[in-house]
Amino acid sequence: MRDIRKLPLDKITVSPSILAADFGALNADIKRVTDAGADLLHLDVMDGHFVPNLTMGPPLIKAIRQQSDLIFDTHLMITDPLTYVPIFIGAGADHITFHVEADCDPQAVIDEIKKQGATAGISLKPGTPAEEVFPYLDRIELVLVMTVEPGFGGQSFMQDMMPKVKAIRDEIKRRGLKVHIEVDGGIASDTVETAAKAGANMMVAGTSVFRNPAGALKAISELHSASRYLS
Ligand code: DX5
Ligand code: ZN
Repeated sequence: MRDIRKLPLDKITVSPSILAADFGALNADIKRVTDAGADLLHLDVMDGHFVPNLTMGPPLIKAIRQQSDLIFDTHLMITDPLTYVPIFIGAGADHITFHVEADCDPQAVIDEIKKQGATAGISLKPGTPAEEVFPYLDRIELVLVMTVEPGFGGQSFMQDMMPKVKAIRDEIKRRGLKVHIEVDGGIASDTVETAAKAGANMMVAGTSVFRNPAGALKAISELHSASRYLS
């Protein structure tokens, strides 16, 4: 069963973002990172409104669902997540993360995701404080802390997001919850240590995995080896 609740909280898991893949050879590229040890597959959905970029939609997810058994970690950077939740889950998304800044009632979106049988995550843009997610922590499986402004791959990791990661991890521990903290943007072998030390256990990585000259196996292994920095 493809379920993020079955993934460990005390080890680093890696979710390669296909935004950095070769779209002309997508299935082969997904197979390459799967064989290299990817734990999930990160799907960046952008609508040209919530963020100034357009990427992929349900038909593409449906097509790769036929070819891949990885957990589809779907990151909705869209204005109206509630309307699209059933469509993305119908296309094969196992997990849906939406933005708390989107034009929506977060509780209604969580309820819809659960009703459709998927797990739920909430993402925070760099300018959004940790506390915005606190009211929902006991109803979601994942918090996604953006470590770049959402919209594009290949940007530089924002070190100054680490206090936010730590504040969310402290609150999750204080309340005895089991919630993944995922970070997204600029994650690579030189930034994973600081993210893990702050309390992030799930790493989205696009450029550093798909476009690593040393290969995906080395890239993913280096990210996994940061498990020793988790506490
Ligand atoms: C940015 C996306 C990221 C992006 C990460 O809005 O949410 O998932 O693809 O790309 P890298 O790892 O290249 O920073
Ligand atoms: Zn993403």
